[in-house]
Amino acid sequence: MIDQRLKSVVRDVYDFPQPGIVFKDITPILKDPALCKAIVDAFEARLQADTIDVVAGIESRGFLFGLMLAQRLGKPFVPIRKQGKLPYRTVAQSYALEYGEATIEVHEDAFNAGARILIHDDLLATGGTVAATSQLVQRLGGLVAGYAFIISLDFLKGKERLADYSTQVVSLAAY
Ligand code: PRP
Ligand code: MG
Repeated sequence: MIDQRLKSVVRDVYDFPQPGIVFKDITPILKDPALCKAIVDAFEARLQADTIDVVAGIESRGFLFGLMLAQRLGKPFVPIRKQGKLPYRTVAQSYALEYGEATIEVHEDAFNAGARILIHDDLLATGGTVAATSQLVQRLGGLVAGYAFIISLDFLKGKERLADYSTQVVSLAAY
């Protein structure tokens, strides 16, 4: 099973990026080409491709598998980036972090109004990042088609924040 393969490879790093946090390090996955392919296979199997027009991936770790997934599904890829990185005209969305605030941006012409956007990120924690991405999608006239995560930290209840946008939530390894 993909969840057991992932859990055997994902590395817990204690006290990163700050004391008390146990960080899920996905870099060991990237050293295993067969596992990388299995991740994309599993996403393809569990997603309804005919409900998706565009795949959006969130900087930076959401880029690693986001483009691969878009390629597999034969859909366009849209990068969601941290503030100040995209060169053309952007729409921005700020959201609260545990301490402080973060801002993400998307190009204003990233997709057409009415497009159905699958949002991909490597990991769902509190859901703040993907909730803000969902708001960006809606502000540009898009529809949230669903979410695809490699890992979800379900004890943080992030999925509850996504229910208002879409019920198609795929997580390959839940903790
Ligand atoms: C991590 C992770 C998700 C986000 C999840 O990214 O890759 O994007 O946090 O947290 P949330 O559900 O509580 O919003 P991070 O901000 O560490 O940046 P990175 O992907 O560039 O490493
Ligand atoms: Mg990230």
